[in-house]
Amino acid sequence: MLQFLSPTKVVMGPDALDRVSSQVRQLGKRALVVTDAGLAATGLIELVTKPLEADGVEATVFDAVGGNPTVEQVIACRNAQQESGSDVLIAVGGGSPIDVAKAAGVLATNGGNVEDYEGVDQFTQSPLPLVAVPTTVGTGSEVTKGAVITNPATKVKMVVVSDLLFPTMAVLDPRMVASLPPAITAGTGMDALTHAVEGYVAKGANPFTDALNLAAIKLIGTYLRPAVAGDGDALYQMLVASCMAGAGFHDAGLGLVHALANTLGGHFGVHHGTANALFLPYVMEFNVAANPPKFATIADALGERVDDLSTIAAAKRAPATVHELAADVGVPRTLTELSIPEDAIPRLADDALSQIDRPGNPRSNTKSDLEALYRAAL
Ligand SMILES: [Fe+2]
Repeated sequence: MLQFLSPTKVVMGPDALDRVSSQVRQLGKRALVVTDAGLAATGLIELVTKPLEADGVEATVFDAVGGNPTVEQVIACRNAQQESGSDVLIAVGGGSPIDVAKAAGVLATNGGNVEDYEGVDQFTQSPLPLVAVPTTVGTGSEVTKGAVITNPATKVKMVVVSDLLFPTMAVLDPRMVASLPPAITAGTGMDALTHAVEGYVAKGANPFTDALNLAAIKLIGTYLRPAVAGDGDALYQMLVASCMAGAGFHDAGLGLVHALANTLGGHFGVHHGTANALFLPYVMEFNVAANPPKFATIADALGERVDDLSTIAAAKRAPATVHELAADVGVPRTLTELSIPEDAIPRLADDALSQIDRPGNPRSNTKSDLEALYRAAL
């Protein structure tokens, strides 16, 4: 059975944050703004808190979220929510603050610990209402029903998934990405492309998710390079594209890129988008055989001239053009650049076998395939 659900209200456009506080006030009177210390030190958080306070919503800032969200950060966030008496969460940042806020919202209404809710539909009470304000152009977490939380004890990234976990509202305000550093634009933009490509060819893909993922691939093919160059409109288009890809992938599923990348992130703390960017073209090469017509469509959507090519030749242009895009935007291209030792590969391949995203991959695979993909990126 295939399905599509996307209940998050998406509000977008210039100064969107100035116009949503009355809607936030209907969700709660006290807001906990969940972010990281880097963002809290910029003026960006005030773009969120000032309109809220002007509209009578108290805002407390919790800024102890790190690069890869952990169980401890979720517990600290839940404690901050309890101490402040907050009844609505506002996550501001990349995927990490949004995922921490999602998980903390679950603990606030269900009790227990994150480990209790690992997997699909493991909790019963609706979490606290959540408004997600993305500040990067990648995760799509503002419209997805999943949170990825690392357990430092096991080095495993746990995935919590539920139809109850969709944020209530996502706010796409161009000001939040206007000064994104090029390296973050590149890494998170490649994460968005990975969502759209993996979602487009995943086993759960359907006409609804295909429409969103293909539109996102086209936008990313057009706007990622100028966004990395600092073009403001391109950055906003990438913000929209990453949100569309988020809505597109969560019911379609993902695949081996995320299985390999989340395992690498769990063991070595590699940035999620960077790890995805590294594996995406190699996994596409591996997967082309599973669906040549769709990979030919991806090549076309990314701007390749494929009219005179056979379907399989056009399909093979898809990973080739992603190799070029990754090189153009300057993301790391090898595990060696990331100081990952070769002897870690068998263990990584072993752990990647049990990743939640692996079953969605369109081509069946074994541990030796996963090892070969890690080695391809060495
Ligand atoms: Fe991702």
